[in-house]
Amino acid sequence: MELTIFIIAFCYIQRTLCFDATLYKFPNDFSFGVATSAYQIEGAWNVSGKGYSYWDYITHEVKVVVEDGSTGDVACDSYHKTDVDIALLKRLGVNHYRFSIAWTRIYPTGMINNISRDGIAYYDNLINKLLDAGIKPWVTIYHWDHPYGIQRLGGWFQPKMADYIADYADLLFKLYGDRVKTWITINEPYSLCVNAINVMAYIPKGFAEYMCGQNVLRAHVAIWRVYQKYRSTQNGKLSMAFNVQAHFPATDSPADIEAAERLNQFAFGWFVNPVVHGNYPKVMIDTIASYSEKQGFKESRLPPLSPEDLADLKGSCDFIGLNTYDVYLVSSNNGTVDVNPSYSNDCGANIIDPNWNVSYAIHMKAKGLGVLLNWIKKNYNNPEVRITEQGYWEDARNVFDFDRSAYIVANTAQMLKSIYKDKVNLTAYSYWSFMDNFEWNKGYIRKYGLIDVDFKDPTRKRRLKLSAGTFSTIASNRKLI
Ligand SMILES: *[C@@H]1O[C@H](CO)[C@@H](O)[C@H](O)[C@H]1NC(C)=O
Ligand SMILES: *[C@@H]1O[C@H](CO)[C@@H](O)[C@H](O)[C@H]1NC(C)=O
Ligand SMILES: *[C@@H]1O[C@H](CO)[C@@H](O)[C@H](O)[C@H]1NC(C)=O
Ligand SMILES: *[C@@H]1O[C@H](CO)[C@@H](O)[C@H](O)[C@H]1NC(C)=O
Ligand SMILES: *[C@@H]1O[C@H](CO)[C@@H](O)[C@H](O)[C@H]1NC(C)=O
Repeated sequence: MELTIFIIAFCYIQRTLCFDATLYKFPNDFSFGVATSAYQIEGAWNVSGKGYSYWDYITHEVKVVVEDGSTGDVACDSYHKTDVDIALLKRLGVNHYRFSIAWTRIYPTGMINNISRDGIAYYDNLINKLLDAGIKPWVTIYHWDHPYGIQRLGGWFQPKMADYIADYADLLFKLYGDRVKTWITINEPYSLCVNAINVMAYIPKGFAEYMCGQNVLRAHVAIWRVYQKYRSTQNGKLSMAFNVQAHFPATDSPADIEAAERLNQFAFGWFVNPVVHGNYPKVMIDTIASYSEKQGFKESRLPPLSPEDLADLKGSCDFIGLNTYDVYLVSSNNGTVDVNPSYSNDCGANIIDPNWNVSYAIHMKAKGLGVLLNWIKKNYNNPEVRITEQGYWEDARNVFDFDRSAYIVANTAQMLKSIYKDKVNLTAYSYWSFMDNFEWNKGYIRKYGLIDVDFKDPTRKRRLKLSAGTFSTIASNRKLI
């Protein structure tokens, strides 16, 4: 009841956004869910034969990368709390739950001679219990936590990564594909190949990103090829969880408008163009080739994909998985070619902090989602789109999270508009995150959850936030009010 009043009050304040949306209801098959990943919630880093992962290494040995010096050793202890977590998912009223499988729980070393029966049983039980609760499991095959041994071989710079990940995916399809019908091959290829490389010292910038991207695309298509063996019997759908922010030009100048478009192509088109259209975006191919030449290189820093990979990549996703959080204002750098190559220089765009107040930022984030969905519809032939992540962060524990609730309301209104007015084929929404968790370089500082977790309490006590009520009301009513 109070919640309805809150939503009406919010819609009044943001009336341009909510006004029409209150007339519509989500389609019956629209799927509401929440998302997590293994390293961020499971803990139990050293139990039941689990192997040492890249993120075990980062948190134990590199350390400086994580702002609060924390680890995922225990995290939310979800590995030991399957029943508690499923009860909470039921309270949220989700249709699906997106989680990831820890590669090191299945193949501890990443090599196929060493299989962990306990790890296999853990996910088997999780999947069965979700289905018993009426919740569809959406499984991310790779969410950044590859075996550390594979990192020693170069990780995403090792061309055989595609073979290793395809072997691992093959076993997952064999084990769980009878029950799992949505597979995300790789989470956030952009973050994996840009943000992760930004923090690596001595790595050649403006090369490493594209080399990683090439191997990520090879890995995706290798998994896709493996799935063809199972497709006719299992009938699941595959995609990556592509990530991009909404890019608004900082001014009305043609140069800034072009820069925002170019950034969409560099950040999103980089991975989506190959899997939809069968190659990198033309603006990337041309720009990087021309900059590389001006910088004195023998060949383009963007390594080409092989004709076989390109042919198989084209059409290698059954829907577009979209992770999106924010809005960036973008201005042109006027084509300045830096002596030292970098991905950001190749993009030709500067990102400006808009410095908006909270309520305006929430309004603009929702608007940005609408703009992005239209852009995807136009550029990729009106594909099915599923939001695989979207969420709101705060840097402190806060159970009365009005801003996060407002964000969910604003984005719900926008999704209804996108579906009914813009005719975007949006079929699912996954809020990130189910609960507060280990947020990579932000450790336990950054909170995205609908559920608060007390990380000082050995039992990792969970508590529903206000936003959990907002989310579950919308998910169960399947409309805004
Ligand atoms: C596993 O990790 C926990 C938590 O970090 C630690 O307390 C425990 O001693 C470790 N167990 C083994 C067998 O290494
Ligand atoms: C499998 O991997 C685990 C974890 O790295 C290791 O302790 C074990 O010795 C390995 N077993 C085989 C047969 O390689
Ligand atoms: C790009 O050119 C415009 C118009 O000449 C100018 O206002 C702007 O400051 C330039 N930006 C950069 C990053 O050089
Ligand atoms: C927030 O920013 C918007 C846009 O600049 C402005 O219209 C609004 O008055 C601001 N609200 C507050 C509370 O400062
Ligand atoms: C949306 O995509 C789904 C899955 O591909 C398809 O079944 C459905 O017909 C599409 N709906 C529209 C309105 O295009």
